Amino acid sequence: MIISERVKNINPSQTLAITAQALKMKREGKKVISFAAGEPDFDTPENIREEAISAIKEGFSHYTASSGIIELKEAIVKKLRKDNKIEYKTSEIIVSTGAKQCLFNTILTICNPGDEVLLPIPCWVSYTEQIKFAQAVPVFIPTYYQEAFRLNAIQVEEKITPRTKLIILNSPNNPTGAVYDVEELKKIAELLLKYNIYCICDEIYEKLIYDEAKHLSIASLGEEVKDKIITINGVSKSYAMTGWRIGYAAGPEEIISGMSKIQGHSTSNPNSIAQKASVEALIGKQDTIEEMRKAFDERRKYMVERLNKMKGISCLSPSGAFYAFPDVIKILEKGIEYNGKKIKNSFDLSDFILKEAKVALIPGSAFEAEGYLRLSYATSMEDIKEGLYRIENILK
Ligand SMILES: Cc1ncc(COP(=O)(O)O)c(C=O)c1O
Repeated sequence: MIISERVKNINPSQTLAITAQALKMKREGKKVISFAAGEPDFDTPENIREEAISAIKEGFSHYTASSGIIELKEAIVKKLRKDNKIEYKTSEIIVSTGAKQCLFNTILTICNPGDEVLLPIPCWVSYTEQIKFAQAVPVFIPTYYQEAFRLNAIQVEEKITPRTKLIILNSPNNPTGAVYDVEELKKIAELLLKYNIYCICDEIYEKLIYDEAKHLSIASLGEEVKDKIITINGVSKSYAMTGWRIGYAAGPEEIISGMSKIQGHSTSNPNSIAQKASVEALIGKQDTIEEMRKAFDERRKYMVERLNKMKGISCLSPSGAFYAFPDVIKILEKGIEYNGKKIKNSFDLSDFILKEAKVALIPGSAFEAEGYLRLSYATSMEDIKEGLYRIENILK
């Protein structure tokens, strides 16, 4: 076999696979409703699109500096100062092809083979595979439904060993919607200094929070701890710009320049036109974020209420992002038969729901959490109503 061991070890993204399957069924004329995709159903705001059109007309279509244009880095510096109370220089910023590439570059820059990376679970699908790609070792820290999937510092400290190099925090969290407690984050910041551990803070959902939840960037807790942190964010979720592929990272200059080296030899600069549009996203009018957040909030409440009315399902009210993450263990315990086989795990259940109810959602196992399903509510209220109706019917 010619395929390298490194690639053989990587599992494909289940989220992308199920989204693709739902699209295929749609093309075949089936009326599929998708709760699978991790992206807003809104269009990119007009002012941002206009900026991209101007960039094309002005011929801004050449290579840019590999780590991003200075204008965008300056906009990111301002954004981090204003929203997150963190002070960075442009030399401490890199712009990449989505937050996904920032994460990949960071993990490859920091980790040597065999280093341990702490990863609270349930977690976003790509972290584990990116860690494995770097030949580092993911060390899972379970968080629990009963504790609203919040991470606590005691659990983190228990998993630290002399090999621990990095921890990845994602708050607001995909898939659980948990927003980590400010006091716990402060304690985790102390652990970073005590044990000399680096921390990736993936803040891609920071603007999408509900009720009383508050977002805190750990890097804002002081200069000393800031040296241990790589803050990652992007325009995908807040500005409905998933397809434009712009993400950014801010951190110590040495790490950022390591990441630039990887980027310089792999993708080079992220799309020049999308970079121009992202400047407008970050410094232009921000009111569309609130419009989108309000719509998600309404859909969130509706979805959670409906799910909790279904027998065998219990669902917490997520504090952030745009996913419901219901516990379906009771349904799995029933051992429903489908096609002569028992539905025994979340993958079987999501497959059954896709084939029979034509509703696409993601099994908890994709997020290292068996016994759950993830449903995105970043889709129209009409589809949410119809999709939940179908799920309820099929489970009866
Ligand atoms: C937690 C998390 N981080 C990062 C990303 C990647 O975002 P981007 O589109 O900027 O690559 C996603 C996308 O789903 C995500 O859910």
